Amino acid sequence: MRRVDDFRLRFGKRELVPIVCGGMGVDISTAGLALEVARLGGIGHISDAMVPTVSDRRFRTHFVKEKAKLYKYNAANSDKSDVQFDLGRLAEATHLHVGRTMEAKRGDGMIFVNCMEKLTMNAPRETLRVRLSAALDAGIDGITLSAGLHLGSFAQIADHPRFRDAKLGIIVSSLRALQLFLRKNAKLDRLPDYVIVEGPLAGGHLGFGLDDWSKYDLRTIVDEIARWLKAEMLDIPLIPAGGIFTGSDAVSYLETGAAAVQVATRFTVTKECGLPDDVKQEYFKSVESDVVVNAISPTGYPMRMLAKSPAIGAGIRPNCEAYGYLLDGTGNCAYIEAYNREVAAHPGAKKVSVMDKTCLCTHMRSFDCWTCGHYVYRLKDTSRVLPDGSYEVLTAEHVFRDYQFSAEHAIALPA
Ligand SMILES: Cc1cc2nc3c(=O)[nH]c(=O)nc-3n(C[C@H](O)[C@H](O)[C@H](O)COP(=O)(O)O)c2cc1C
Repeated sequence: MRRVDDFRLRFGKRELVPIVCGGMGVDISTAGLALEVARLGGIGHISDAMVPTVSDRRFRTHFVKEKAKLYKYNAANSDKSDVQFDLGRLAEATHLHVGRTMEAKRGDGMIFVNCMEKLTMNAPRETLRVRLSAALDAGIDGITLSAGLHLGSFAQIADHPRFRDAKLGIIVSSLRALQLFLRKNAKLDRLPDYVIVEGPLAGGHLGFGLDDWSKYDLRTIVDEIARWLKAEMLDIPLIPAGGIFTGSDAVSYLETGAAAVQVATRFTVTKECGLPDDVKQEYFKSVESDVVVNAISPTGYPMRMLAKSPAIGAGIRPNCEAYGYLLDGTGNCAYIEAYNREVAAHPGAKKVSVMDKTCLCTHMRSFDCWTCGHYVYRLKDTSRVLPDGSYEVLTAEHVFRDYQFSAEHAIALPA
């Protein structure tokens, strides 16, 4: 029986272990996690979601405080159109997060940054351009475009000196989304270097409808995309993602032509992962019925999470003066509308509960939205119970090597 280590992901002359640790914002896939995966010869992702916040935490900068102070006057106003990101500061924060990570890189692997288009930041085009350019300036090995169709993203950086040398890829959940992306970018004469095909069992936001996600299946989508690429004589590495839980799951894709696999949930219970220890234990302890796919993300995409997530139902005041990453180009966010509706319906109430939407910026920042892949409930089978009843937190190296070397769907427990 073959193992993941019998395969290699090839980028030109470069060979990598075909394991990609997916981006997990906000700082769940930390620099430490990405660095460890790169050291072991795979591809690790950091995320640029809420990068000023992440920079404040990592480097004791004061980007969030500064912005909150500047727009304090607007806190009680439901019109957030005034609240703009300073593009210079955004570039600075990206430089710090990406640059310091790249300086620390060791080993033969690579580090990519996950860039979500849905972080519209009250000026979608301008802010995305700064995020992408600054990451390239700071030496990132590659950029994975996610959470959106990204029809104009390549054009935003087409004049960057690293546009053709950095690895650029996109996450899609359907052949149609890929076709649209390729058609819109045909005139740039630059194909993506890889395409991550994310199925319905993934963590984070899903590229499917809330009512029909369960009708889809990763293998069918990967096969359909592979057949189409072949017919079009397009040679683009495909990287399936979503529900690949064992090395043998990964091998089943590699054997049928996938270039690598992207995985995430198994790394959420490693010591390098940014989730607080008590949240890691919630992931370990979860059972299948705890996992829900709901519509509380203001992005409009369904999201998978544990039903116990404190983010569900929390009716906090929108915090866009400090954050504001989901404000559309006119200063609106679906959470603001939902919050205002509840406040109006409960005059005089000290606290309201908002069930249909959540203030995702605040709750992702404080690790209160426990997003996870469908198989989160199998994490308990990947570790052992300690005398105090908690599960032993793993190392990223242990999980990586288990994917790389295990066979017959076995999962190695920590030594
Ligand atoms: C905690 C968590 C956070 C995630 N955050 C993001 C994100 O910010 N951007 C993104 O494109 N994908 C995100 N994902 C999706 C992963 O990158 C990955 O593609 C997917 O979860 C792989 O499936 P698996 O978790 O079943 O291995 C997240 C996944 C998890 C588990």
